[in-house]
Amino acid sequence: MPITGIYGPDDFANRPQGQPDTSRRAAPVPAGSTLPMPSLEWTPAVERATAPLYDRVKHVIPPIEWPLMAPTIHAINELKRARGAVILAHNYQAPEIFHCVADIGGDSLQLAVEATKVKADVIVQCGVHFMAETSKLLNPDKTVLIPDSRAGCSLAASITGADVRLLREKFPGVPVVAYVNTSAEVKAEVDICCTSSNAVQVVESLNAPSVIFLPDRYLATYVASKTDVKIIAWKGACEVHERFTGEELRSFREADPSVQIIAHPECPPDVLAEADFTGSTAHMINWVRAKRPRRLVMITECSMADNVRAELPDVEMLRPCNLCPHMKRITLENILQSLLTLREEVTIDPALAQRARHSVERMINLRN
Ligand code: 13P
Ligand code: SF4
Repeated sequence: MPITGIYGPDDFANRPQGQPDTSRRAAPVPAGSTLPMPSLEWTPAVERATAPLYDRVKHVIPPIEWPLMAPTIHAINELKRARGAVILAHNYQAPEIFHCVADIGGDSLQLAVEATKVKADVIVQCGVHFMAETSKLLNPDKTVLIPDSRAGCSLAASITGADVRLLREKFPGVPVVAYVNTSAEVKAEVDICCTSSNAVQVVESLNAPSVIFLPDRYLATYVASKTDVKIIAWKGACEVHERFTGEELRSFREADPSVQIIAHPECPPDVLAEADFTGSTAHMINWVRAKRPRRLVMITECSMADNVRAELPDVEMLRPCNLCPHMKRITLENILQSLLTLREEVTIDPALAQRARHSVERMINLRN
C-alpha cells in the first residue's frame, strides 16, 4: 500500500532551528602513537608481495596503474599487522580498497554483524561516518577509526534526534524504525534499526498496525509496497540513488531487451518498477553470483559494479552509475595515514551510546 504520510523539517513549527550537527570532533592522538612513514617505492619485492592482490583486481585496474597503488597497498597491509587492526569496507569502496586491503567487506548489515565479532584492538572503517559509529556502538572498547570523518551521508544528515521526538509527539505510541543510515543521536531515540537487507522483516517484527519509518522516503515506499503495516515516512533521500530515473532504465532495455537491471531500494519507485530485482548491496551481489547475467545494469554506486566485475569478469556491466561523494572520501592514502597516526577516532557519548546500541542490537538479535 502507499505510505500513509510523509513528514520533514518544515512540518514542525516548534522544531529547533538549525541543521543536524555533521561536524566531527577528532579525538586527540595519544602521545607516541604515530609511526614513521614507510617507503612507498615500487620495488621488485613490492611487486612480488602484491602480485596475488593484483590478480584479484586485474579486470578492473589497468596494469599501468598498479605500480602507483601497490606500494601503498603493501604498506597498509604491513601496518595492519603492526597495529593489530582490521579493515572493514563497504561494497561501495573502490576495488583497490575493497579487494586489496579490506579484511571484511559487505553491506551495512554484514558490516554491523562482523563488527560485533572483531577481536583486534583497532577497527578501520572504510565507509561513511554512520557505519563507523555503528561499529563503535557494537564494539565500544575498540579504537574505531575512519580515515576521513567528513564522509557523511545525505540520509543521516536529513534528521536529528529532536525531529524523532517531534514525530513521537505527533504519533504517540507508534513505534519508530530507523534505517542504520542515521547518526547515533537518532538511533538513541528510536525503537529499532534496520538496513535495506531486513527493513520489511524489522517493520513486521513490531506487530504494530502503523510504524514510523525514517529517514529514507524511497526505502519507506518500497517497504510499504511489501507489507500491510501502515508506514509513516520522513522526507530524506539518498543523493546518489534519487538521481536515477525510470526513463534511463527504459532506454537501456530499448537498446538491448535481454539486459538485466537490478536496483537498490533507495531508488525512486519509477526506477524500481523497471528493475528485474531490487535488494540491498549484498542481495544484489548474491543475485549476480546466482544468475550470472550476460549484460547487467546495476542501479547503485559505481564501485559496486567494479567490485562485482573483479570477481565475475564474464558479466558485462553497462554503467549508468552515480558516485557517492562521501564514500569516495576514503582513499588508500588516508587509510595509510589513519593507521600511521591512529586518526580519526570515532567517539560517542557513553550515555547516548547505550541507548543507540540497544536499537542496533535489537535488529541484530532479530536474525537469530
Ligand atoms: P546497503 O546496506 O545495501 O549496503 O546500503 C548502504 C548504503 O548506504 C546504500 O546507499
Ligand atoms: Fe548515504 Fe547514499 Fe552515499 Fe549510501 S550512497 S552513503 S545512502 S549518500
